[in-house]
Amino acid sequence: MPITTGSDGITPREGWSSRSAFVLAAVGAAVGLGNLVRFPAEAANNGGGAFVLFYIACILLIGLPVLLSETLIGRHGQASAVESVKRMAAESRASQWWGGIAGLGVVSAFMILAFYCVIGGWVLYYIGLFAADIAQSGVTGGALTNMTAEEIKALFPNLQQDGFTMSVLDVIFVAVTLMFVARGVSGGIEKASVWLMPAFFVLLLGITVYGAFTGAFSEAIAYLFTFDASKLTGPVMLAAVGQAFFSLSLGVAGMITYGSYVGRDVNLAKTSTTIAFADTSVALIAGLCIFPIVLAAGLSSDGGLGLMFDTLPHAFQSMPFGTLIGLAFFIMVGFAALTSSISLMEVPTAWAIDKFRMGRALTATIIAVAAALLGVVSAYSFNALSGFHPLGFIPLFSGEGVFSALDSVTSKLLMPIGALLVSIFIGWIAERRLVDNENGLSGGLHRFWLFLVRWLCPLALTGILIVGIFPGLLPN
Ligand code: PFF
Repeated sequence: MPITTGSDGITPREGWSSRSAFVLAAVGAAVGLGNLVRFPAEAANNGGGAFVLFYIACILLIGLPVLLSETLIGRHGQASAVESVKRMAAESRASQWWGGIAGLGVVSAFMILAFYCVIGGWVLYYIGLFAADIAQSGVTGGALTNMTAEEIKALFPNLQQDGFTMSVLDVIFVAVTLMFVARGVSGGIEKASVWLMPAFFVLLLGITVYGAFTGAFSEAIAYLFTFDASKLTGPVMLAAVGQAFFSLSLGVAGMITYGSYVGRDVNLAKTSTTIAFADTSVALIAGLCIFPIVLAAGLSSDGGLGLMFDTLPHAFQSMPFGTLIGLAFFIMVGFAALTSSISLMEVPTAWAIDKFRMGRALTATIIAVAAALLGVVSAYSFNALSGFHPLGFIPLFSGEGVFSALDSVTSKLLMPIGALLVSIFIGWIAERRLVDNENGLSGGLHRFWLFLVRWLCPLALTGILIVGIFPGLLPN
């Protein structure tokens, strides 16, 4: 459904082939390591139910309005993210500098892409590990039975010490991402989501149901959903808002870019609600998938990357059909990570195609090579380069190597700033008539959305940025 011309001004611009293709692609972008690794880990670290309920409120009151704002900027502009913001600014007689919002997003998306693909490489490592285990010991018993608990525990730290293996796996993950992005919007990106997302949902539900019968399901429910107001402290609220942004892929121009391929006939309020609903459901189901398995094995459920890469492989050891479940689990994580990394690569690619008027395949390849190089440096930041702290001079990032600095700078600073600027732009700068025509809302809902974008989002985001940068301001 292309409705404008592409960067050469002659051929029609690419677009999604249908409304559902857009929804699947956007859900694919949103659902990823953030839902499967970060959400359960953050819930575990931040008091279970209190965090979860506040998270849902953040999605509804801050995430959803910003998501609708981003997709509407893209759909209105029908161009790469920077160009789309500039077009809306020009029609509203505002400064072209507003394009900088999306420029910042392009940089953030590239930075996230670099470290995200390193984690994607770890997922490939575990897929290989469980596949080899099946080849060796079949599918019926537990997983990794020829290893002691200590050996399993050592797998992840050993991988992190092996910069070369991590780099090779990172390059493979970037290359697979590139294969889809280079083929274009409807020919590549959309195909990945249309095939991988349904497969992802089947695997997720299958493993969750299996865990419900074999694992500690009721303990997991109690753990995730018991609301204890005393646990809702400042840092917990902050963690919940940050997680909501990361999970919905906001503040990095990704949803502006995906929105720019949407046709005029799509109701953006409805699609944004569907995307947010699907993303939140997956996060909750991921919690109900992972915790019963971990709790049944009597392992500690505390967070961090170790929950997925340390604790779970260990838990699969004692589980009937553990090898099979382990393999299915990491394949599922790989699918979710891939559709997200595709969206991350598309943001700088779309920008560079518009800016330099080069072909898609060449542009995407240049971006992929650059991301792989930065990824290799971040892979070595766990070992050979561990003493290199690029932002050590900024207290907020002191002591962080390249990998964690990329993560922190984007999630603590660039994403919230990007989302804050989007809400100010849509709430205060863009001409009302442009916004009203585009958002698919009317009546009271429209007024409520405007209130959220004009007041709640900017104020809440400013607060979050301030306490994020000066954590000492909040009581613990
Ligand atoms: N939302 C993705 C996740 O939850 O894993 C991460 C992400 C993807 C963030 C795409 C930003 C983005 F543009």
